[in-house]
Amino acid sequence: MMISVPDLLDAESVARIRQIIDAAEWVDGNITAGSQSALAKKNEQIPEGSAAAREAGGIILKALGNSPLFFAAALPLKVYPPLFNRYGEGQTFGTHVDNAVRIQRGSDFRLRSDLSVTVFLEDPAAYDGGVLVVEDYFGTQQVKLPAGHAVVYPSSSLHHVTPVTRGTRVASFFWLQSMVRDTDARRLLFGLDQSIQRITGQLGGTDRSVIELTGVYHNLLRRWADS
Ligand code: NI
Repeated sequence: MMISVPDLLDAESVARIRQIIDAAEWVDGNITAGSQSALAKKNEQIPEGSAAAREAGGIILKALGNSPLFFAAALPLKVYPPLFNRYGEGQTFGTHVDNAVRIQRGSDFRLRSDLSVTVFLEDPAAYDGGVLVVEDYFGTQQVKLPAGHAVVYPSSSLHHVTPVTRGTRVASFFWLQSMVRDTDARRLLFGLDQSIQRITGQLGGTDRSVIELTGVYHNLLRRWADS
């Protein structure tokens, strides 16, 4: 299941992040790649744990915390500190699968990657190519979103970024471990949550059926969540 989170970042936050990262040191993107994906990966990244990555990443983590849609879609338990990459002309990331376990360098922080997140940080009109292509059970999805929008997709999927042929694609990317490990269970909860939001709008939060359905949601989450 692939879910877009429109306007995760407002224009001001995007501009602030770009100000921080555009002035930062960039290195070969293979520093975070596994041995297989290193063969396919041609881009640049900001070193993990650098002051710039921490500061810009903090803005993204705060925005995630303020997004009910992100929370409902991902049900995050642990979020990897956001990383930043860019693809100049001719750069690409061929088909790969993300590592199942991510260990943060120099710390004992680790997570199982259930979901991968890309936050777009460049105007799509400013570059050609650089499309995120995700193959999941429902087919192949192509994603290229406005700056400030995010997409959440299964880390288990095969995915790639098509070559950039003009301009530069700039993005943040990271992984998260969900409280609900099972993808189907997470999808059911998300569908239920979205329906409850809609009928709450129609019937009001004090309607008996709305309260009962909200109870069903929380009792399913209680049954399935790790914390
Ligand atoms: Ni990947």
